[in-house]
Amino acid sequence: MTTLADRWNIRPDHTWLRGQRPEHNVRFDEDGSIDIYGYPEAAKALTNPQIFSNDVGRLFLDEGVELDERVQEGSLLQSDPPAHGKLRKLVSRAFTPKTVADLEPRIVALTRELLDQAGSQGKLELVAALTYPLPVIVICELLGVPASDRDLFKKWVDRMAQSASALLDDEADGEDVDVAAANRYVPEMHEYLAAQVAERRRHPMDDLLTSLVQAEVDGDRLTDAQVLNFANELLVVGHATTSALLGNLVLCLDANPEAAARVRADRSLVSGAVEESLRFLSPVAAIYRATAKKFELDGHHVDADRLVRVWVGAANRDPRQFADPDTFDPARDPNPHIGFSHGIHFCLGAPLARLESTIALNMLLDRYPALSIDPAEPPTFMSLPDAIGVATLPLRTG
Ligand code: HEM
Repeated sequence: MTTLADRWNIRPDHTWLRGQRPEHNVRFDEDGSIDIYGYPEAAKALTNPQIFSNDVGRLFLDEGVELDERVQEGSLLQSDPPAHGKLRKLVSRAFTPKTVADLEPRIVALTRELLDQAGSQGKLELVAALTYPLPVIVICELLGVPASDRDLFKKWVDRMAQSASALLDDEADGEDVDVAAANRYVPEMHEYLAAQVAERRRHPMDDLLTSLVQAEVDGDRLTDAQVLNFANELLVVGHATTSALLGNLVLCLDANPEAAARVRADRSLVSGAVEESLRFLSPVAAIYRATAKKFELDGHHVDADRLVRVWVGAANRDPRQFADPDTFDPARDPNPHIGFSHGIHFCLGAPLARLESTIALNMLLDRYPALSIDPAEPPTFMSLPDAIGVATLPLRTG
């Protein structure tokens, strides 16, 4: 049977998408780095920050990559305990389940608007029409960025994508990477966000930026730099991932017509389909860690400062954890996938990603009698090795 990955020519190195388990659950590479593919091994690494640190950037310091400390400040993703816990508590005060739930009517309206604009000629390129614009507009709404400035954010998100692919192209060519040139949009975005943060201090509003500015735990507050870096981080981690989830979800349903028919007939399965898509085609295919000290793993002696790649996509298909791992089953229950990570860095935006994708899929099913890929116009995929997601997804909708 041809797998979805073979049919659409998804990166060949993601062997697990083709039903082939990596040879080992943990692989020790010659360069000292470690690849983790097994589910229990991945879960263990992700829940042990004393050994598996999120401060991965420091591994690249001696390769000439300069880390801007002002940008690091406020980054949840790159911090370890105890700083991480303190920061996460403060940010969680502002970014609450209620903040996300309150966005629901806006997300419904925005999704409708975007699909209306896409027209109804029996065809739809889902990424351009919906999955690319929706997450960035939602993050703007969440932060409280004026609608008139949304285009600025779209421009920055485009630049982020361009800079990621410029880095990849350079690496492929074996040339030096001009990180500074690729990231020229960053100061402009920071300046804009800094002005927004200052404005919220003067004139509080009913939005996330204001809540972040006002959040307080045990007398501690976030600094301006922390607020703006966190806002920036939301764009970096919340855009491409959500876009990939929405596209992958539709791709999974196209490849599994029986499952798609069940979901269409019984909408209580929509949220199960979202979870199963996160397991089956995990948008974040790999999470990185740096070893913080010497330790023993699987009988191997591991030094400090080694790069660790936790292959979420492979762990999510480990037969020791998931029965029939290569079957897409929207009714899978329980479904303890680690698509949103696991442990203290569990994705803070998971409720938002889940809400957006549930609304989007329900609306697509309501509007279109069919959502199928025309084999003459196959989907294309993001070229990053650690991400799985469609870059374009042309669909027939009638
Ligand atoms: C962390 C995945 C959407 C905000 C993470 C991590 C993963 C992830 C794997 C943890 C990385 C690690 O352990 O080092 C995803 C996926 C998404 C998604 C697959 C969509 C399908 C979002 C959205 C937002 C968001 C929409 C917010 C707007 C965050 C934040 C963190 C995070 C702030 C850092 C949490 C921490 O380090 O404590 N996400 N994410 N994510 N995500 Fe998401």
